[in-house]
Amino acid sequence: MKDGQHITLGIETSCDETAVAVLADGCHILSNIISSQIDIHRTYGGVVPEIASRHHLQNINVVFAEAVEHAGISLQDVDEIAVAPGPGLAGALLMGTAFAKAVAFAAGKPLVAVHHIQAHIMAGLIERPDIKPPFVALVVSGGHTHLIACDDYNRFRILGQTRDDAAGEVFDKVARVLDLGYPGGPAIDIASETGNSGAVAFKRVHLEKGSLDFSFSGIKTAAINYIHTQRQKGLDVDAADVAASFQAAVVDVLVDKSMMAVSGLRSPVLVLAGGVASNRLLRRNIKAACEAAGVDLCIPSPVLCTDNAAMVACAAYHKRRQGFYADLYLDVWPRLSIETDLGLLDAKNIKLI
Ligand code: KG4
Ligand code: ZN
Repeated sequence: MKDGQHITLGIETSCDETAVAVLADGCHILSNIISSQIDIHRTYGGVVPEIASRHHLQNINVVFAEAVEHAGISLQDVDEIAVAPGPGLAGALLMGTAFAKAVAFAAGKPLVAVHHIQAHIMAGLIERPDIKPPFVALVVSGGHTHLIACDDYNRFRILGQTRDDAAGEVFDKVARVLDLGYPGGPAIDIASETGNSGAVAFKRVHLEKGSLDFSFSGIKTAAINYIHTQRQKGLDVDAADVAASFQAAVVDVLVDKSMMAVSGLRSPVLVLAGGVASNRLLRRNIKAACEAAGVDLCIPSPVLCTDNAAMVACAAYHKRRQGFYADLYLDVWPRLSIETDLGLLDAKNIKLI
């Protein structure tokens, strides 16, 4: 830490990662500690909410101490404590939010509440602090597939969203049927490396002309039906070929719609966000499309795409500049619209989904 730097400490516990990070001036990572519970939930094939909450409770002090120590700071150096009180699993959110309140109270520091998905979007600005709103973001995670206009640090507008399954959700489900394990996204990414993406022709669903919405349930069902039918016929299913064909179909639609969302903008900037943004084919193809169209593309490093607390600290750094602080009455919201402005913690401003 250098003299005069603004220090934000972020806390993230919305799903199965217990994370604490320390950020200087919104873009220098002093520490970014993530304790993943993936190995515990793998046994169940998905996240078990109560187990996730208990592990947050057991781990949060250790992760917090490590983040502070690794950053080489003391709590007195921190300018604000940031936390994401939603969306996510209720019990998991309660752990991080209660812990953040306790630290803010004990250290006498202000508390900033940030929206978990808005924080995913802000993760891009850690490595690209030159990017400022307005810009467009493609948010692809386990629960979200959204094209978002970020008009300001606290103003997010939905341009399009999935009408059924989220991209990460379909990766996870198809991987399960292919027996590739959990979490499915990274498993499909790896399996696809040796597969032929033209082996199975999955339809690309674009919906009505001009729509920025998505629909992935058709591709998911087609993939699962294909696997079951092959097996019923006693035929081998080449997991690598199916994974590569399925991945290519999902990625094609994500790239096409993202390019539609930025077309016509004067200085188009596209920010990729969420766990699926670490998918290597998506990163490659969207990079090529943006280069061809003259779009400034921001893709965070994979560690900043999946759940982490540096993104929470970054979002809070920008919010506090607008004077948005929470208080010790802060609640949690498991289902919180991405259009909610958590700077205005007034019941009428909270939009649920
Ligand atoms: O953003 P995230 O860490 O958690 C939330 O859902 O908020 O996203 C998790 C999702 C999971 O569905 C996971 O399978 C997917 O991101 N994912 C991937 C990859 N890495 C993670 N999907 C495709 N390719 C990947 N490399
Ligand atoms: Zn997330």
